[in-house]
Amino acid sequence: MIRMIDLILAKRHGKEHSQDDIKFLIDGIMDNTIPDYQLSSWLMSVCWQGLSNKETSWLTDSMSKSGETLDLSEIADLVGDKHSTGGVGDKTTLVFVPLMQAAGIPMAKLSGRGLGHTGGTIDKLEAIPGFNTQLTKEEFIAQIKKIGMAIAGQTKELAPADGKIYALRDVTGTVESIPLIASSVMSKKLAAGANLIILDVKCGKAAFMDTLDKAENLARQMVEIGKALKKVVIATVTDMEQPLGLAVGHTTECIEAFETLKGRGPEDLRELCMELGAVALVKAKKAENKEKAMRMLSDFMNNGIALEKCKELISAQGGNAKVVDDYGLMPQAKHKFALYSPYQKAVWISHLDGKTIAEGCKMMGAGRSKKEDKINLGVGVILKGKIGTKIEKGEPVAEVWADSREQFERVQEKILSAFSFEENEVETPNLIKATVS
Ligand code: URA
Repeated sequence: MIRMIDLILAKRHGKEHSQDDIKFLIDGIMDNTIPDYQLSSWLMSVCWQGLSNKETSWLTDSMSKSGETLDLSEIADLVGDKHSTGGVGDKTTLVFVPLMQAAGIPMAKLSGRGLGHTGGTIDKLEAIPGFNTQLTKEEFIAQIKKIGMAIAGQTKELAPADGKIYALRDVTGTVESIPLIASSVMSKKLAAGANLIILDVKCGKAAFMDTLDKAENLARQMVEIGKALKKVVIATVTDMEQPLGLAVGHTTECIEAFETLKGRGPEDLRELCMELGAVALVKAKKAENKEKAMRMLSDFMNNGIALEKCKELISAQGGNAKVVDDYGLMPQAKHKFALYSPYQKAVWISHLDGKTIAEGCKMMGAGRSKKEDKINLGVGVILKGKIGTKIEKGEPVAEVWADSREQFERVQEKILSAFSFEENEVETPNLIKATVS
């Protein structure tokens, strides 16, 4: 008879599990016979000892089959899904899904909540009044059939075992593990039925993979898992040392996504959406080459078509699409405080630590410390520049959205500590680091 305590001890000592062990684990999570404390202990052992490729693919397979799996083949030959491995300021989905739909690729997007210090799309979407992220399987499919796209949170129906593990990892310090991330991401992608999977593997200190080597390894593992199951998988490794874009928070990030769809967003967010989108369009044979794909995507952002698609998506999921033009309809912190650099002269931002910015936001309630915590959607930070930006004498480096002066005073030092400055010009780092497909 398999016992959880034996699995914990085996993994703690670096032994390999069998497929039956992994099945026992997932079944036990699903029928609640494995308590959170034992699962947490096993997760921590995996963080230290890792999982073999075989264990990772069994875990992925078991998690993806822990609920229902969707068959989207009747919708189109290729149905897309996109996933980021987690970062700070990553609001890409809100731009990318309508953009891909505008280009004729149906999108069946399954998203998650915040994990560790990173933000989650489902939490961000909750800043849009009425937006329902908890679609049933039938609603999810019906909406893709009707308007060609849907964004749903993990339900009890789709890869529920990952849902339970994910929530526990978030609060037990067991996020940064290549096999746990690979199996978590891919189990959701496999269950949700898309066959064109676009992965954005984040790399840098504000991501779970802090080096290019680790990020490429994670990208390769996910591409392999997908390939074995006959999916088209493209993984792009992108910089996550500093936040993506300028906004960090929930409402703040929705606003920045809408601005990007209006052609006024920050350059790096636009570049990321264009890069991921162009590779996908070429794979899906919607464009002959990357240059043509980029031009198509740029047109959709500049002529308002992608923005219209975004409004359609919000309305279809019960949200108030007026938010796109009236940002005041979303929860906003009571005050906006300017944060200044300590220098009395012009300086360049030489480093910007996304994780510290995220921790500052979490201190204001933008993230969870316990599974049941409610998050504050209105607080956040808007950076005035990124690495390579010149900050003139007397100019702020960020705007902090806080509910009170005390709250701002509690976090200002933390947020300022994310910045390093130099007196000489600093180069802007590259966003796109590698592509694995
Ligand atoms: N995104 C996921 O879905 N799972 C992880 O473990 C990390 C990022």
